[in-house]
Amino acid sequence: MVQEPGAPWWRDAVVYQIYPRSFADGTGDGVGDLSGIRAHLDYLADLGVDAIWLSPIYPSPMADNGYDVSDYCDIDPVFGDLATFDALLAEAHARDIKVLLDWVPNHTSDQHPWFVASRSSRGNPKRDWYYWRDGRDADNPDTAPPNNWRAAFGGIAWTWDEPTQQWYLHNFLPQQPDLNWNHQEVVEAMHATLRFWLDRGVDGFRMDVIHMIGKDPELPDAPPAEANTNRVVFNDYPGTHALLRGIRKVLDSYPGDRTAVGEVNLRDTDRIVTYYGRDDELPLVFNFNSVRIGWDAAEWSALVDEVERYYVGDRWPVWVLSNHDIVRHRTRYGGSEARARAAAVLLLTLRGTPFLYAGEELGLCNAEVPPEQAHDPGGRDGCRAPIPWTADAAHGWTGATPWLPFPPDADRLNATTETGDDKSMLALYRALLRVRRASPALRRGELTRVDAPAGVLRYTRTHNDDSCTVIVNFNHFDVDVPLDNCTVVIDSNHTGNPVYDGRVGAETAVVVRPSVGP
Ligand code: NOJ
Repeated sequence: MVQEPGAPWWRDAVVYQIYPRSFADGTGDGVGDLSGIRAHLDYLADLGVDAIWLSPIYPSPMADNGYDVSDYCDIDPVFGDLATFDALLAEAHARDIKVLLDWVPNHTSDQHPWFVASRSSRGNPKRDWYYWRDGRDADNPDTAPPNNWRAAFGGIAWTWDEPTQQWYLHNFLPQQPDLNWNHQEVVEAMHATLRFWLDRGVDGFRMDVIHMIGKDPELPDAPPAEANTNRVVFNDYPGTHALLRGIRKVLDSYPGDRTAVGEVNLRDTDRIVTYYGRDDELPLVFNFNSVRIGWDAAEWSALVDEVERYYVGDRWPVWVLSNHDIVRHRTRYGGSEARARAAAVLLLTLRGTPFLYAGEELGLCNAEVPPEQAHDPGGRDGCRAPIPWTADAAHGWTGATPWLPFPPDADRLNATTETGDDKSMLALYRALLRVRRASPALRRGELTRVDAPAGVLRYTRTHNDDSCTVIVNFNHFDVDVPLDNCTVVIDSNHTGNPVYDGRVGAETAVVVRPSVGP
């Protein structure tokens, strides 16, 4: 990785998210695993990513595909074991690829020994590791839950426990009870889980719904108007910030710029940025407003302006278009290849650390998942379809039938076919990552937005004497954006013309820089 002196590695990095169940199957059981990832590290090195983030690989009953952890310090047998993980980590590091794990601090599985103990009796020493409360109606305690919170996947956020005659809180599934971070023993136990992996050499964590870990111990009702939106009371509670400072201390007690990217699923950018801290709180924080807006120049211009306004000092932006929770961006953009290609240019040239979601470099759309094959209680299976590696019917998944159907057009949109095609989406991503790696302006430079014709987003990136201009034409027709004496570095539509002629194709993005010489 090319790195500016003194800059932490993650500022210059491009991170690649792997959903382990769906990436590659090394054992032939139809479910992706760690040995499958090991076998594709050269693919990732050739793509040019600097780090991988693995969605949860810990032992889990898989009610939420691993986001219900029953042991934070081991590997689920479906994915492998600790020895395989250590080998993966060493082999990734040998290729200069960092490894981030997904850390799930807001809730455990209901099968975690902590919760099993907590549930066993009111007097158990771990009772208060979770949120147990009486019902509102003392005479009929099982009829009215303690407050009006709703769970993210529907229904109320409480489950009645008949044997101990109390309710427990779960902001997600009933199988995902919320940990009580107001209890010091929970804080310490969770810090120990971080240390377990940091000691093994991982480079950091993606932290699941980190903005939710602090809670007002009174667990007050959400205001009625918001009661169904989950946007208040248990999101963005001020006490979370002190908890983050404790977590950051753990990370900083290790050498080598161990990092964390927080999943802060808030809407207001001015609130999201409060989770950053240079020496405390989080080094990186997701901002999902980029996935909430569509294929629209005005919306993107407004978001870029907002990010430039709020992300000052050490608040380094994070950009993302797709992940395992949302419809893939190519599908959101109407399935259009041209739009997905232009979006790749946008994602990889904005100021900040980009996160790619496995398969977007192949131009994948969401899979159609028939109801009888559906797994996810949140209806997110379509973006979790297996990655097609080859053109033949098995697409490189050579054992049992994969756990979900492949995305559409996998005979064309697969790693092998696209590797052999210098105009493929994969070739475009590789070129973008190469250009970015070689350009201080694209990695570190300031961003200045420049006025442009309607339907066009234009900005420059500048670092010392390195400068380039990015023009994204969202229109379905060509536009003129004249610029003197420029060379085309990237054209999402691969016209192959090295001299910028002042015209940008429909739904096309270009990166240009001043021509050198006479
Ligand atoms: C956010 C994760 O990305 C999602 O997949 C999961 O269902 C919830 N958090 C609960 O852990």
